[in-house]
Amino acid sequence: MTLAGKNVVLGVTGSIAAFKAVALASELVRARTLVDVIMTASARQFVAPLSFQAVTHRSIFGDVFAANSELNIEHVELAERADIVVIAPATANTIAKLAAGMADDVLGCTVLATDAPILLAPAMDAHMFDNPATQENVARLRARGWEVVGPAAGRLASGLVGVGRLVEVEELMGAIRALLGRSGDLAGRSVVVTAGGTQEPIDPVRYISNRSSGKMGYAVAEAARDRGAQVTLISTPTALPAPFGVQVVYVNTAEQMLAAVRDAVQEADALIMAAAVADYRPARPSAEKIKKADADVWQLELVKNPDILAQVRGDFVRVGFAAESQHLLENALAKLHAKQLDLIVANDISTPGSGFAVDDNQAVLLDAQGERLALPLMAKRELADQILNKVIKLLGQRRAK
Ligand code: PMT
Repeated sequence: MTLAGKNVVLGVTGSIAAFKAVALASELVRARTLVDVIMTASARQFVAPLSFQAVTHRSIFGDVFAANSELNIEHVELAERADIVVIAPATANTIAKLAAGMADDVLGCTVLATDAPILLAPAMDAHMFDNPATQENVARLRARGWEVVGPAAGRLASGLVGVGRLVEVEELMGAIRALLGRSGDLAGRSVVVTAGGTQEPIDPVRYISNRSSGKMGYAVAEAARDRGAQVTLISTPTALPAPFGVQVVYVNTAEQMLAAVRDAVQEADALIMAAAVADYRPARPSAEKIKKADADVWQLELVKNPDILAQVRGDFVRVGFAAESQHLLENALAKLHAKQLDLIVANDISTPGSGFAVDDNQAVLLDAQGERLALPLMAKRELADQILNKVIKLLGQRRAK
């Protein structure tokens, strides 16, 4: 799902977080969307319209009686051309007005006049957000089909710590992509993705793991979501935020991942295993921290972990990854056949800038019918879309059988 050419109407209301909306507008422009900003009167007290004009290179809306607007009837034209309306930050006051269907400013009028999906990102004091009045208003908007992202927990303008912060720009972008992609080519499909390196405990403070950052699996999960799929992401602990609109199940060990995958694939159309699963685990993890001994050598006995992909079978497309530093195709093909997969992503980790814990990846896609697609080094998100293109083809072939 590309955002390029989409029309985003960004409603900005009077919150200290309004400055973050400038960063959001800038990110949307970078994604080549057309951004029309509507500012309420109180938003203009926090940030000057010129800031938005400078990043969007477009007129800023907000005055119902503006005589110099290039649009005929601003709110109607904005409402009609919007692919999505995003209200970020949304104050308690604006949320209350919108829940009541009030139309006393350009934002209220636009929201009433649009058929586009609406994303609301509240930002306010934690007590104001907790208040039953605000909670009821948010619930009413949700019931009308609006999506709500956040607020996040953290330090608020009042100095208090609580739930009320506008979510970060990255999460807002994820939510916008997800909403715009709802009717994509994976709509109605359920996709299970695994990500990260499993952690196999030695004792309560130590574990065996690997360098997987989870970036590849998260990219696949986000790409599938942005094409309309229902996504379950089974992840080990990573530094990455949970993607908006994706159900995340956290696990540590290979055995936990196996149980979570078995559970998640019940209704799945595809399983994509990007996780780096430890092949072995300590045979007898200690319940207590192991103390340093006098001996110079410490032997750790390992036992084999279950092979998740080999064990989990069913009527869904099964995709594996093979991270190889040598004999890429030979090793990947061996895994494709041994695990009877539909597709394997032969991941060349010998290329600089490819593989573990980096943003890019180089791979060859090999399917069970012998088709090969050699791809250049590309962003993990781009590779994710290439993999999903192939998964969609395989799903189509299954239906045709
Ligand atoms: O997370 P990143 O930092 O972004 O890095 C991404 C990645 C390099 C981890 C990813 O692109 C990748 O290549 N993942 C597979 C790692 C690997 O080497 O897997 P494998 O060859 O050990 O296993 C082959 C396949 O079987 C994999 O899909 C794996 O998830 C699965 N497997 C492996 C062992 C096991 N016990 N059970 C499994 O299901």
